[in-house]
Amino acid sequence: MMNFGGNSLFLQQKFIQMKKLLFFLAVILLPYYGLFAGEGMWIPMLLKQLNEKEMKAMGMRISADDIYSINNTSLKDAIVLFGRGCTGEIVSDQGLLLTNHHCGYRQIQQHSSVENDYLTNGFWAMSKDEELPNPGLTVTMMKKMEDVTHQVLEGVNEEMTMENRKQKIKENSDALIKKAEEESGYEVTIKDFFIDNQYYMIYNEIFKDIRLVGAPPSNIGKFGGDTDNWMWPRHTGDFSVFRIYVDKDGKSAEYSPDNVPYQPKSHLPISLKGIEEKDFTFVFGYPARTSEYLPSFAVNLITEVTNPPKIKLRETRLDIFSKYANSDPKVRIQYAAKHAGVANYWKKMIGESKGIRRMNGIERKQAFEEKFMVWADIVKGNFGGIIPTFEKNYGEMEPYSLASDYVREAGLGIELISFAARFNNLSEVNKETSDEKIQSLVKAAEGQVKSFFKDYYQPIDQEVAVALLKLYRENQPADFRPEVLNLIDEKYKGDVEAFVEMLFAKSIFNNEAAVNDLLRNFDHRSVKKILKDPAFQAYESMRDFYEQKVGPHLQRLTAQNDSLQRIYMKAQMLMQPEKRFYPDANFSLRVTYGLVEGYHPADAVYYDYFTTLEGILEKEDPNIYDYVVEEKLKTLHSTKDYGPYGDKDGHLQVAFVASNHTTGGNSGSPVLNADGQMIGINFDRCWEGTMSDLMYDPDMGRNIAVDIRYVLFIMDKFAGAGHLVDEMTVIE
Ligand code: ARG
Ligand code: ASP
Repeated sequence: MMNFGGNSLFLQQKFIQMKKLLFFLAVILLPYYGLFAGEGMWIPMLLKQLNEKEMKAMGMRISADDIYSINNTSLKDAIVLFGRGCTGEIVSDQGLLLTNHHCGYRQIQQHSSVENDYLTNGFWAMSKDEELPNPGLTVTMMKKMEDVTHQVLEGVNEEMTMENRKQKIKENSDALIKKAEEESGYEVTIKDFFIDNQYYMIYNEIFKDIRLVGAPPSNIGKFGGDTDNWMWPRHTGDFSVFRIYVDKDGKSAEYSPDNVPYQPKSHLPISLKGIEEKDFTFVFGYPARTSEYLPSFAVNLITEVTNPPKIKLRETRLDIFSKYANSDPKVRIQYAAKHAGVANYWKKMIGESKGIRRMNGIERKQAFEEKFMVWADIVKGNFGGIIPTFEKNYGEMEPYSLASDYVREAGLGIELISFAARFNNLSEVNKETSDEKIQSLVKAAEGQVKSFFKDYYQPIDQEVAVALLKLYRENQPADFRPEVLNLIDEKYKGDVEAFVEMLFAKSIFNNEAAVNDLLRNFDHRSVKKILKDPAFQAYESMRDFYEQKVGPHLQRLTAQNDSLQRIYMKAQMLMQPEKRFYPDANFSLRVTYGLVEGYHPADAVYYDYFTTLEGILEKEDPNIYDYVVEEKLKTLHSTKDYGPYGDKDGHLQVAFVASNHTTGGNSGSPVLNADGQMIGINFDRCWEGTMSDLMYDPDMGRNIAVDIRYVLFIMDKFAGAGHLVDEMTVIE
């Protein structure tokens, strides 16, 4: 166990000592004090205290209370977590919800077939009875949050072991949650902030009947596809429309045809006034994860050690997906969501590693660490051990992190093997397993078979398997990889193709009928069949390797680093008392703010802050799937039929960028103006700024939003779904 902290009295004394040294420190720490414009993801409840003044100085005309209030209706009542990874916002008094096209992508895809291809053609419910239910999809609305740090940390002290501390915190939290849930009737969670230094209790209402209302065709909703993804200038109409349904009493309920549209406390007004450069904006949503306070060693591990092989493995898969998708429309639909999923973080990782290099991110962290060591020495706390211990731990972590990435990205990147892995529980069925248990496992498996095979195309997977296994063998040492890879040498003389040939010929997991057969009358012979299956054996080999040689070390080191990071976080705050800190993103509701502004991505290049329909026509290429332009859109362009959605110069603006600090999860978030009116839907970041999850660069950090006028234009003029616009509160 490590102990670099101290009790609070000790810290207070250190704090006083430290203040005396402030002058000296202020000089050596100068570059770290200035808060960058645009940086920060702020807790809505604390805006009044920490940010309101600055927001107003930047141009905001509403108050912090208008954004978040527990006593009065505020904007926060219109913001929801969409599914488990995006943000959505309510825009009408009938529960109409906006989010991104890429956030509703799975749902749109699941309702699509070659005959009814909503991905390609779009989908618009012309009346409420045409809206499509999506079992499993939820929308979560935060009711309130409370600081419960003292209660959570009751009985916790710095002398405790890591395990005891965790245990105590869990006990305290569970008791608090139980009580709060009983009293409030909401779902309650406790989240840690500033890396286990603060805790907030969050009360949520969860809606379960969410229906698809509309989506533009992919050549609007995903215009530019993965080619333009993470990049500016952008011309994507990345939005989709859903609606929340509740039971007759207005309470959240599972899907029922009798459910009715939800009447929210508040919905966002929409502005058609548009934007000017330097306008104040803010983004209100659910950023998922950032790690701004890591030591240099961690940033090095991510950007220099683990990103590069992951990038290579994903690239290999994507090339194969694309080859097949381009020649077969059925395969294109089957692999659309998979391709998008793999491609998204592939490109993000490239941008992130590049960005950190360009900013000299590792060197900057190292310089800070040197100053930190000087400070630690001066305050004579126990902080001096933090940096060297990090160095040792992250060094030790390298081979394990890589091994884990290879299992995940190379081994389980083979669909046959990851599908076989889902039969792990059934493979453990034995005499002691109750019939009831077996039935429920079989049922769960049955539920997955259909959807897996709907989107499975063996020739792709087989080619992927050969390519990934080759890379795996080339890049991981024989004594530090799953046994199955060495089998290729022993039994197949190193011939990966021959091994894969056998794998796909002998396994039953690439054959829907055979899998259904296996599940029918499941008994001990079925268990044997699973255990003898070569794809399942390949999975087992990877699982055992991970569980025996990788997982335990990784978990031990991660736990140590987490515990260390908590103390390092606290120490960074003590060291820089003048700096206004924001907690890393943790999937809780946050506000980020900045200005509408363009940027210089490279020497001699300047990117303007908005794009227009003209740009879509510039990019048009009927031969490239990502750049096909709908005829109807071209007609609307040539007749300049923009209705109230065009700008004063006669253009139709499509997307814009602003310096709001956002991350994954912020997709679908509303971008609001100085009056708290919606002007866009956030959907991405600029590539040059994607390292912002580790280090924010005010010069390059830009979020990308689709202009709300383009969204309404597509609904109204393009799709003829003006009745949806009529539901909204539109301010001209
Ligand atoms: N990069 C954006 C985000 O991280 C959009 C992803 C979806 N678009 C795509 N072309 N894959 O989610
Ligand atoms: N596109 C991301 C999302 O889906 C947003 C981002 O990473 O900037 O949340």
